[in-house]
Amino acid sequence: MAKGSDGEGGVRRRDLFKSAGAAAAASAFLNPLRAFGQEAGGGTGTPSVGPGPVEIALDVNGGERKLAVEPRRTLLDALRGDMDLTGAKRVCDRGTCGACTVWMNGKPVYSCMVLAVEAEGSEITTVEGLGTPDNMHAVQAAFVAEDALQCGFCTPGFVMSCAWAVKEHGTELTDETLRESVCGNLCRCGTYTHVVAAALSAARAAEGE
Ligand code: FES
Ligand code: FES
Repeated sequence: MAKGSDGEGGVRRRDLFKSAGAAAAASAFLNPLRAFGQEAGGGTGTPSVGPGPVEIALDVNGGERKLAVEPRRTLLDALRGDMDLTGAKRVCDRGTCGACTVWMNGKPVYSCMVLAVEAEGSEITTVEGLGTPDNMHAVQAAFVAEDALQCGFCTPGFVMSCAWAVKEHGTELTDETLRESVCGNLCRCGTYTHVVAAALSAARAAEGE
């Protein structure tokens, strides 16, 4: 899974901060900076940005969003603070709980571990983009039907991980595959059994479509 610190396309925020200005960080920032022509001159080839805001554009839930963010701002904070999309939750803010899970280019990521500038040009799907209260995604409806939440704080993240598993595996989704797909999500209320039941129910519903 692309989610988290070391997955494909992921950059560990802690490491990124530690190596700011170093070649590794420069490489990680290369694409967004090039996209906006903000690479530093001087012939070093090392881009420099900030500390002021950088303009980025993202496709969020099917619509283009342009915003200016400081290079240190996470995708999670940009979604919640700048775009008023508060479905993804900030719980651990260090890539361990999964409450902030969104899809980036169709794959689940911990949005607290992705810098907003790193997501420039990407397609982002949040739980708000998956369905609405009047027109819920099959997984969202299954969470309600299977009583797969208690306090609900982990729920948006679980829904995004489960919906990805259903999207990827459809009717082939098994109990074991589902458990692997949500292994990066934690629930302090212990709803795991109901979460698994909901996801498998949604996968079975897809079979009848
Ligand atoms: S808030 Fe991102 S993984 Fe916990
Ligand atoms: S429902 Fe409370 S943390 Fe999961």
